[in-house]
Amino acid sequence: MMDKKQHTILVTGGAGFLGSHLCERLLASGHVVICLDNFFTGSRENVLPFLNHPCFKMIEHDVCHPTAIQADQIYNLACPASPIHYQHDPVKTIKTNVHGAIHMLELALKNGARILQASTSEVYGDPHVHPQKEDYWGNVNPIGIRSCYDEGKRCAETLFFDFHRQFRVPIKVARIFNTYGPRMHPNDGRVVSNFIVQALKNSPITIYGNGMQTRSFCYFDDLIEGLICLMNSRLELTGPVNLGNPVEFTILELAELVLQLTGSRSQLNFHPLPGDDPKQRKPDISLASKELKWKPKTELKAGLMATIEFFDKLLI
Ligand SMILES: NC(=O)c1ccc[n+]([C@@H]2O[C@H](COP(=O)([O-])OP(=O)(O)OC[C@H]3O[C@@H](n4cnc5c(N)ncnc54)[C@H](O)[C@@H]3O)[C@@H](O)[C@H]2O)c1
Repeated sequence: MMDKKQHTILVTGGAGFLGSHLCERLLASGHVVICLDNFFTGSRENVLPFLNHPCFKMIEHDVCHPTAIQADQIYNLACPASPIHYQHDPVKTIKTNVHGAIHMLELALKNGARILQASTSEVYGDPHVHPQKEDYWGNVNPIGIRSCYDEGKRCAETLFFDFHRQFRVPIKVARIFNTYGPRMHPNDGRVVSNFIVQALKNSPITIYGNGMQTRSFCYFDDLIEGLICLMNSRLELTGPVNLGNPVEFTILELAELVLQLTGSRSQLNFHPLPGDDPKQRKPDISLASKELKWKPKTELKAGLMATIEFFDKLLI
């Protein structure tokens, strides 16, 4: 059930793809929103539509350093999410995950605030269990090129649960599966943005492996709804809770749909699979649907059309 009280809400990573949509939705619901971001992958353009909103405040800050902000809810989203960006400076990525989580949890403790962690399906690694349920501990390489992100996010989850057990901090851990939509970074190498940008430019579509690996794609609007439902759920529900779209597609199916919707002349170009790339990913969302009465509503075709429109304008 949605909470009608006005909150002061801190969103770290609020100038990024998901963060900016979250800020926008929270403002529209009448809350005071403080966006904290170091603009590593986020941008002022993302928050431009509401930058002058009287209830919005933008703070340029790095979560690797402590901060003193008053808020009664904290969404911790600060962290580059695409492999190109998080592998750019892996030590910084793990610091953002670990030091960032500690600083935000300390802030939550001081403020008596609820805090939600944007965790990830990457905590399941290359899964041996399919679809993935929250009680699966995962199959993660601790020393690979993705580990700064995967293990950083796993350590952040540990910190959340230790702060909860030791200091009674009210926590919520969301495990987000592949989410896409307008405001994604055009050069971040994530599969949906990559395919759309390549298709719109009539450039070859990069497929890693044979394209038979599967992914599930959640539209941002559905995901934001899930995050807000989780934050405002009963206190005892700490998570982790999977949030994502369980409808599975192969990468080839995605490429073909993007080609069809853009009317592109692009050819498919096959490349070797990068290290530790998971072969399949699909959330089991029965916990979210039971506890939050949540499930994604947007079909891939509709979500892709809106995302294509965004990138089309951006490229012009
Ligand atoms: N989009 C997805 O499919 C997905 C899937 C799983 C998890 N997530 C998680 O959701 C969150 C948001 O992802 P996104 O897709 O919007 O990515 P994004 O890169 O667009 O957003 C991340 C934001 O965090 C900011 N940031 C990075 N390091 C920071 C630091 N040290 N201090 C302050 N700000 C910092 C960036 O500038 C950016 O605005 C991330 O934590 C990501 O791990 C996203």
